[in-house]
Amino acid sequence: MCGISGAVLETGDVGPILYDSLKRLEYRGYDSVGEAAVVNGRIVVKKDVGKIDQVERQLRISDLPGNIGIGHTRWATHGAPSQENAHPHTDCKGTVAVVHNGIIENYMELKQELESKGHVLKSRTDTEIVAHLVEENLKRQFGFVDAVRQAAKRLTGAYALALICANEPDKIVCVRKESPLVIGVGISANYLASDISAFLPRTKNAMLLEDDEMAVLTCDRIRVMKVETGEEVTRKPFGVEWSVETATKGGFPHFMLKEINEQPLTVRNALRTQPIYLELMASAMNRAKRIFLLACGTSYHACLAASYAFANLAKVGVTPVIASEFIDAYGALIDSDTVVLTVSQSGETADTLTAVRGAKDRGATILGLTNVMGSTLTRLSDVYIGQNSGPEMGVAATKTFTAQYAVLIKIVVALARKRNTANPKDLQRLEDGFNHLPEWISTTLSTQDDNVRRIVQKNSDKGSFCFLGRGVSVATALEGRLKLLELSYLPAIAYPAGESKHGFISVVEEGYPVLFVAPKDEAYPKIIGNVMEMKARRAQVLSLVEGDDSQVASLSDETIQMPNGIPPPLTPIVFIVPLQLFAYRMAVTKGYDPDFPRNLAKSVTVH
Ligand code: AGP
Repeated sequence: MCGISGAVLETGDVGPILYDSLKRLEYRGYDSVGEAAVVNGRIVVKKDVGKIDQVERQLRISDLPGNIGIGHTRWATHGAPSQENAHPHTDCKGTVAVVHNGIIENYMELKQELESKGHVLKSRTDTEIVAHLVEENLKRQFGFVDAVRQAAKRLTGAYALALICANEPDKIVCVRKESPLVIGVGISANYLASDISAFLPRTKNAMLLEDDEMAVLTCDRIRVMKVETGEEVTRKPFGVEWSVETATKGGFPHFMLKEINEQPLTVRNALRTQPIYLELMASAMNRAKRIFLLACGTSYHACLAASYAFANLAKVGVTPVIASEFIDAYGALIDSDTVVLTVSQSGETADTLTAVRGAKDRGATILGLTNVMGSTLTRLSDVYIGQNSGPEMGVAATKTFTAQYAVLIKIVVALARKRNTANPKDLQRLEDGFNHLPEWISTTLSTQDDNVRRIVQKNSDKGSFCFLGRGVSVATALEGRLKLLELSYLPAIAYPAGESKHGFISVVEEGYPVLFVAPKDEAYPKIIGNVMEMKARRAQVLSLVEGDDSQVASLSDETIQMPNGIPPPLTPIVFIVPLQLFAYRMAVTKGYDPDFPRNLAKSVTVH
């Protein structure tokens, strides 16, 4: 998730306008920044690695002259943060410049095609291929607008693109597919950006682009057309009521609620991980004699959940380990036949990095899964994958949990295929399930948030809660508990449901709230007994059940309805959503700040 912006003015320089808009988009990505403009018939680019203020001090990007330009603030997905990988990117001759937010899935094959035609690509990004594709079309005598349209028709994935061309210095062309892109309608000026907050100080009139549409902006006109056919589309601008702060939060009151609602897109982005990296990870794991999944906090819960699928589908025993205990517990077993798959959204958690260094010293192979390209974990890893969730502003991890777990399951599928250990039907059901995940999450968000809010209202006076699950839902229960604990400061408990009768049950008294995570998977028949045990002690049973559930639902005081038929290994990705909402609503109900809970930091860089 990056931030893109653009401006075309009748008079004046775009430098300060682009700089200001990028400052407002900085929450979308802040590892590198750049601007490009057409100046005296030539494309001028200013870009570098680092936060906006830092790059401004070095390059004075706000001084960029010219009345037409594009800008970008980056959250690396392909290619670590560097000056070469910073946007804007240009073609071989520097005639075209492009900025991009999203993921171009088929960039590898397009890159090979362009290199076979003699193009030289300067960066490791997916984005740069767009500039060269447009260059190819300009060579074929297409005008700039059609050259971009023809190039866009060849791309797959998610993208918001903005381009300028030295040959036609009066227009910006932008294209949208899935990634957000909005146009600002000005007077003798027009703007574009990843979100409205970027140009709100200049105009409160906006225009949305739909998927597979493109727009041509000049200083006094905006043309919208369909990418596929080039057919013009009439689009009416609308007035924006939001403040800049609200716009930055996408209209949500807190970053956490915005990030919970981003999950349909961020899970889809995570599932777009390039097969080559999944293959590299699966090969390393297939060669290993011992495999550990290493992490802290929420990332550890993603590892714990994935350990079930590694065993059941890939028939590989992996040991999920809390990083601060790793070397003490397993140091003696680690050697060159050991693989350590390390998961950390920040890539900077001290406990995790220390454990990784300890394992490296003992000869282990390090695989990394992180949300921050260029983080220390990526530098310590032999192979790493970026999970493409974009910056997570809320301290409580939400969208990064579901994205991490989605990538881990993709690795399981790659390993199971390599080892030929899974029933093809199960793998196919899982692949089909991947495609349904965004819709299952959206359905849960739209149908259950009010229900969760009502249950929270009813229980906001409770002093403690317990979360129970069986099988992979043990991890979902633990993660739900962590969210409530870190945001509402309530001493919440979580247990494997089967284990609850070996101790926890002594705590249960009339009305004590017990949340059951109860998808209809292999563990379902057994969890019914656990629900009855709690009911027998007059607990208040709150259950997450599939829509057509009758047994657990009939035993429960409250139910949260989940979509039917989610393949069991994928249930943590959907069933965690109402538990994230539960914690968020409880924090807000208690008057706590859900974005910045006390005593916690987004990245724990101390031991
Ligand atoms: C989760 O909401 C917390 N922010 C915390 O437990 C976090 O998951 C943990 O510190 C690990 O962070 P990492 O994924 O960045 O390594």
